[in-house]
Amino acid sequence: MKVLVVGSGGREHALTWKLARDPRVRQLFAAPGNAGITEAASCVPVAADDPEALADFAAGRGVDLTVVGPETPLMAGIADLFAARGLRIFGPAREAAVLEGSKIFAKEFMARHGIPTAPFRAFDSHNEAQDYLGRMEPPVVVKADGLAAGKGVVVARDREEAAFALRTMMVEGAFGEAGRRVVIEDCLEGQEVSVFGVTDGERVCVLPPCQDHKALLEGDQGPNTGGMGAYCPAPILDEPALDAVREKILEPVVDGMAREGRPFRGVLYAGLMLTAQGPMVLEFNVRFGDPETQALLPCLGDDFLDLLLACSGGGDGGDGLPSGFTRGENPGRHAVCVVLASEGYPGPYRKGIPIDGLEEARGLPGVTIFHAGTAVADGRVVTSGGRVLGVTAAAGSLAEAVAAAYRGVDTVRFTGVCFRRDIARKGLEHLPVNSFRSGNLWKGFKPDTLE
Ligand code: AMP
Ligand code: GLY
Repeated sequence: MKVLVVGSGGREHALTWKLARDPRVRQLFAAPGNAGITEAASCVPVAADDPEALADFAAGRGVDLTVVGPETPLMAGIADLFAARGLRIFGPAREAAVLEGSKIFAKEFMARHGIPTAPFRAFDSHNEAQDYLGRMEPPVVVKADGLAAGKGVVVARDREEAAFALRTMMVEGAFGEAGRRVVIEDCLEGQEVSVFGVTDGERVCVLPPCQDHKALLEGDQGPNTGGMGAYCPAPILDEPALDAVREKILEPVVDGMAREGRPFRGVLYAGLMLTAQGPMVLEFNVRFGDPETQALLPCLGDDFLDLLLACSGGGDGGDGLPSGFTRGENPGRHAVCVVLASEGYPGPYRKGIPIDGLEEARGLPGVTIFHAGTAVADGRVVTSGGRVLGVTAAAGSLAEAVAAAYRGVDTVRFTGVCFRRDIARKGLEHLPVNSFRSGNLWKGFKPDTLE
């Protein structure tokens, strides 16, 4: 089988790493990929946001399955285009991708279907938004409706901050059309957790929950980033809680989308806040998370490809999930991904800094290095992005995985490297060491190992 992975970050490196281990995958391509992905796949110089060129490539090379990493091509209708050309693809159609592409759509959809989320109002008039803000008790959350490269959400501690966000988005047009309409919502308190449901449009297979670390600095301080690390499974969502998320959130979304004529096939990512009133949806994404995927995939069994095939569309289409198949497996594995970032990130940073110790780190037991922003210059691997590497380790307990990941982190060196020392600490504090070691909590797949 020939498989193409679309994208160029740490998530896509993890996807190619996982797929390359499946003996059915004879040829693996990544478009455009990165310096690390070349270990697992042939990188082809086709941009991730050029659906036509990707379809031409897939058709020309006889690709059997295309797996889409980032959201931009999904919103641009890559799944529709592939389906029209008879090409099989994992990722939702444009009309379903709107769950991520428009926060107003997502909030109104949740209201229509009784899915728990923060109370909100949507505005396209700056004056009306200002009036509403005047009647709200801070803190409040202001969100640009459309995609804003992860910068469209402001959790405002006071009215001035919220008013500034409204002005920047709605009047000054900082995010262009994406910010002309906004959502203002209540601020929720609790721990955040990411849950992925892989769906054929009808049934949902829930994967082990992950926790991301969005803040730059330890103790969740400092500016928001694309994610400084993740671990899986997150013990804060135990088996009954995960069932509740499936029944009250993921399945109603998939049902509701089908009933509204927007069938959703692919992976639905629910960003949840675990509040005193139960899990509430902060956001939906229509793709795998980054860096969650780097921690998730080492915890999955060896039929990940089957899951993608069952839930793909276009071409021969997927056969769908077997009935009663509601859980991805956790064969007793825990994984942690620590992101190494460039100095200055998420602001401006230098590129082209040589990275040392990669080979040595890869030799450590349980450690895998996923590349996010690297390039090769003069035969050396150098930095080329804000998030550079995801040093990942898997083991039989969370504590062992954390220890192994940080042994990897301490082996890799580049000037100005920034990372958090407390990735997965919340998970460790939640449960005593080893108490989450369950071989059959997620049933259905065979176990896998991480080299
Ligand atoms: P989003 O892109 O909607 O997930 O928002 C990005 C981040 O903003 C989330 O990961 C949360 O940390 C925070 N956030 C979003 N909505 C809320 C909310 N209603 N209450 C508190 N924090 C929020
Ligand atoms: N981890 C956050 C995201 O993928 O959007």
